[in-house]
Amino acid sequence: MREVIVAGNWKMNATKEMTNTLVMGVLNGLSDVNAKVIACVPFPYLSQAVALTTHSQLNIGAQNLNTNESGAFTGEVSAEMIKDLDVQYVIVGHSERRSLYGETDKIVAEKIEIAINNGLTPLFCVGELLSEREEGNTEAVVGRQVRAVIDRVGIEAFRDIIVAYEPVWAIGTGVTATPEQAQETHAFIRSVLADNDNDIAQSTPILYGGSMNPINAEELIGCKDIDGGLIGGASLKADSFLQICRAG
Ligand code: 13P
Repeated sequence: MREVIVAGNWKMNATKEMTNTLVMGVLNGLSDVNAKVIACVPFPYLSQAVALTTHSQLNIGAQNLNTNESGAFTGEVSAEMIKDLDVQYVIVGHSERRSLYGETDKIVAEKIEIAINNGLTPLFCVGELLSEREEGNTEAVVGRQVRAVIDRVGIEAFRDIIVAYEPVWAIGTGVTATPEQAQETHAFIRSVLADNDNDIAQSTPILYGGSMNPINAEELIGCKDIDGGLIGGASLKADSFLQICRAG
């Protein structure tokens, strides 16, 4: 039985005050939540979030990392730095990084590799554009994205990877994939993993992301191959985030 995981991706939204209010708000509502809960906060607020959540049920994650261990990479953040802050999770390959910052499958695979080598747990994002879905290429695109990482780090590494399927057309649009659409692609992702190792495929968490909210969360997370959610907008309010956490 795979555990349910609900992760919030705050994206580029935070202040010190908001971090305090949101983290405390989530912490205060977690007593009746069974899911594993993660909040992925912007780099400058990681330490603050970690300090607020020590010995709690709320785990903290980062949203990106560099492909290099260290060195002359002005403005970048390494896996080692994230680990050094006692942060366990890191989002890798989010569609905003792929489309706005030119992250290719190769770069994403390198980031997954360095995250794992430093003992971090990547939240590895895949997903197709609307045009790719309309052309019937969803499986080709998502399959390519998953295989690029398997080819680089090997299937064994998926024991420490959380996959997130985020159809790009559903992110921040209010248009959610139907449970049938999401389940179909989740099952496909699991089949790609199973082509390499069926046990690992059955134990790898695959989260859904894209306009998940308190109203649609239960039905989505209720699908056989959907193991939780990666939440953008609805993770910025403790109430709505907690409602999704309770749906799991
Ligand atoms: P929304 O929930 O705002 O659609 O964002 C999803 C997402 O990109 C999470 O990483």
